[in-house]
Formats: sequence, C-alpha cells, structure tokens
Amino acid sequence: MKQMYIGLLGCGNIGSGVAKLLGEMADSFRESYGIAPVIKAILVRDLTKTRPDYVDVSLLTTDKDRVLQDPEIGYVVECLGGEHPSADWMCEALRLGKHVITANKMALALHWQELHAAAAAGQAQLYYEAAVGGAMPIIKMLHDSLQANRIDRLTAIINGTTNYLLTRMTDEGLGYREALTDAQALGLAEPDPTADVEGEDAMYKLSILSSLAFHRHLPVQAIEREGMTHITQDDIRNARELGYSIKLLAHATQTEAGMDAYVSPMLVPLKHPLSSVKGAFNAVFLHGHACGDMMIYGRGAGSAPTAGAMMSDLINAMRQAAEERRLSACFEQAEAPASMLQDRMSAFYIRLAAQDATGVLAHIAASLSERQIGVKALLQPEERAMEGAQITILTHPASEKSVRAAVAAFDPHLVQVMNVLRVEANEG
Ligand SMILES: NC(=O)c1ccc[n+]([C@@H]2O[C@H](COP(=O)([O-])OP(=O)(O)OC[C@H]3O[C@@H](n4cnc5c(N)ncnc54)[C@H](OP(=O)(O)O)[C@@H]3O)[C@@H](O)[C@H]2O)c1
Repeated sequence: MKQMYIGLLGCGNIGSGVAKLLGEMADSFRESYGIAPVIKAILVRDLTKTRPDYVDVSLLTTDKDRVLQDPEIGYVVECLGGEHPSADWMCEALRLGKHVITANKMALALHWQELHAAAAAGQAQLYYEAAVGGAMPIIKMLHDSLQANRIDRLTAIINGTTNYLLTRMTDEGLGYREALTDAQALGLAEPDPTADVEGEDAMYKLSILSSLAFHRHLPVQAIEREGMTHITQDDIRNARELGYSIKLLAHATQTEAGMDAYVSPMLVPLKHPLSSVKGAFNAVFLHGHACGDMMIYGRGAGSAPTAGAMMSDLINAMRQAAEERRLSACFEQAEAPASMLQDRMSAFYIRLAAQDATGVLAHIAASLSERQIGVKALLQPEERAMEGAQITILTHPASEKSVRAAVAAFDPHLVQVMNVLRVEANEG
C-alpha cells in the first residue's frame, strides 16, 4: 500500500487536533483511497511540554528541516500561527514541491502573492479551507461550486469573538468590558483581544475571501478597518428601536468603478439573515449573478472544526495525488491587485449628544442638507437625556465623504459626535 508522509509544523490546539483526526481516520483512508497516511515529524518549540496521549512524542522535533528537507514528506500541515516564520517555511515547503495545508489567515493574507508564486514554482498546492470560517467550506465553495458566478458583493460575520461580544451586549444588556471578561473566562477571547476587537482578524479573512471571490488580489492595506470597542448600550438600544442589530461586518463589493472593502461595526436590518447569526457562529452572505443571494453559516473556530477543515484539505490533496489527477488550476491565483473605489454610498447612523438649546436641531439639519444628506429617521429618547439631549439620526444613502464632512462641520460647542456607523443597505 502506498504511504503518504506528512509533516506537521506545530502541535498546539490545531496541530494536535489534526494528529488526533489523522489517527482516527487512518483506516478509512486505507479502505477508500488505498493510501496509508503517516505522520513522519512534528515541529514544536518546546520538547518538554506535555502533549495529549494521541500525539506520538517520538516524532517531535525542534529542527524544522526534519519536516522541510525530508524528501519523503509530501504534505506539510502548518499549524504554527503568526506571520513569521510561518510564511517563510510555507514558501520553502511549496518551492520544494510539498503541498501545504494551513489555517493561518495572517500569513496567508500578508504573503498571498509570495505563497502562490512559491506554489507555482514548486508545482505544489496551497490549501487553506481552515483559514476562514472554521467548519464552513467557504473556500471550496468559492473555488469550485460558484466558479460560474460573477460575485459582486460579499458581507460576512467572520470573527466569532466579536459576534459573541455583540450578542451578549444585545441579548443581555451587558457592557463591552463585562462581555469581554466573560468571553475571556470561557476561552472565547484571547487575553489580549486586540486582533479580534479591532477587526484585524476579520480584515485578514476578508482579504482572502475577496481575492478568491472577485479574482483580484485585495491586499489588507486596501481594506478600511474599524473595531467595535466604541459600541455602547445606547447604540444597541437605538439600533433596535430603528429596526436593526449591530454586527461587526466584513464587507466587499466589486463594481465597474472599482472594489470597495471594509471591516466595521454596522447596523443590519433585523430581517436580514446576518442579524440572526448569534454567538461565536460565522456566516458569509454573498450575491452572484447566477446564484443570487446566498448564505453559508457555521462554527467559525475551535480545535475540532478547524482541524476537521484541515483534514478535508489533506484528503483532497491525497485523493488528487492518488488518482494522479492534475491538481485543479482553481487554486492558482495570478491576479492583478484590485483598484479601489474612491467614495462609497451608504446610509448612516449618527448618534449625537447635543446641547438642550434652541437652534441645535436647525444647525444639524443645515449641515446635512447643505451636503444633500436626507434624514430617514430621528430618535430623541427623553428618558436617556442627561445634561443635554441624545439625538440619533438615520440617513438615507449618501456619499460617505459628504457624511463625514457634515459631521466634522457640527459646532463642537453645540453637538458632540458619539458614534457614526454604516448601515447595511440590503434588507436580506
Ligand atoms: N485555535 C483556533 O480555534 C483556530 C481557528 C482557526 C485558525 N487557527 C489558526 O491555526 C493556527 C494554529 O493555532 P493554535 O491555536 O493551534 O496555536 P497554538 O496552540 O499556539 O500552537 C502553536 C504551535 O506551534 C508551535 N510553534 C510556534 N512557533 C514555533 C516556532 N517558531 N518553532 C517551532 N514551533 C513553533 C508551538 O510549539 P509548542 O507547543 O512547543 O509551544 C505549538 O505547538 C494559527 O494560524 C491560528 O490562527 C486557530
């Protein structure tokens, strides 16, 4: 029976999950594909750490070349995390003709073209289903199932931590700090939550998804990013009164005028399917010219869903090799970088703390109407007025540059701008 040798880079949450699944699935591999998958070496940093009993500790090494330079190893499963040395070692493996399976969205998004060039040079394949959306097969869907579609719009909840925080804030009235402390205690947020709450993790994932969906490389530098730490109970309550929930969305569109991409907290209509995505779940809502609107929903992270997605990649890679099929060209990404839109149209939510004085509303209205910004709804809840008045405005779709200019022109002696958020236009 043909043996296929695998090298693991890393044996933490995900790497040990892959080792466990490989052990469990070895028999079915042999029966279904006539292949015996064999882990030959596992790279770690610390040989003295205790490992789960399903990890064969005799395979552990701190020498990366036992994985990268072993000619027998044809498959490298990267579970190290971080940008460096992960990206460098993946490039090295690919150039040497080893197929690479990774869950590392950061290394992938920041070194997209380099990694694909290394894969082309080594005639190897790069698989990354687990990098976005955990258990959801969104990468394969974009590569294969939706190939006949021209996708023009993609809106996603792709960070489970922030969706969990906003869900607790919405459903239980918790403040951001309180929700974060709970999430950290439950292991749903890192001790340093910056990458999640500031939208960096979602930005890496959006770069990957958009590059696939639009066949144009979307570098992370082209993505506008805003975190969710400034969302308060006032915003959540106002949004609900207006018929919306607040979600941290990763959004990208492609039009003839260019591509537009951002990660930001947004108001989502309550009847939009993304509004009902709760807790640590993820979902990608997209529009294609043939498929119309569609959404995929599932668990976005965790050892088992992520390791399971990596196993699927490994099975695909091995099956293709066993059947001696030419590896599918859809994983090759020779695209030009995206050209970006200079301004965007969106409806906006604007929350203000205003002086309780005559003429304030007229001042606000004048600044908006001067820039052709129409008001769709206005909230002024009496019971929440403290020293002054809380005014919340929902605009009709308008140029974002004009809205930012109108808000910047408010007289700071009369009006304090508390929050400005985009509103998802699609009702779902
Ligand atoms: N955890 C999740 O739910 C999840 C979900 C989706 C994607 N991912 C991605 O999966 C990847 C792995 O995450 P994880 O949670 O498994 O991380 P982790 O638990 O911190 O494991 C990292 C592993 O890599 C090893 N390692 C790190 N740097 C090394 C170096 N320079 N040389 C040798 N070994 C090194 C560590 O060795 P030691 O064990 O000796 O310290 C450890 O075994 C990341 O890219 C992450 O973004 C994770």
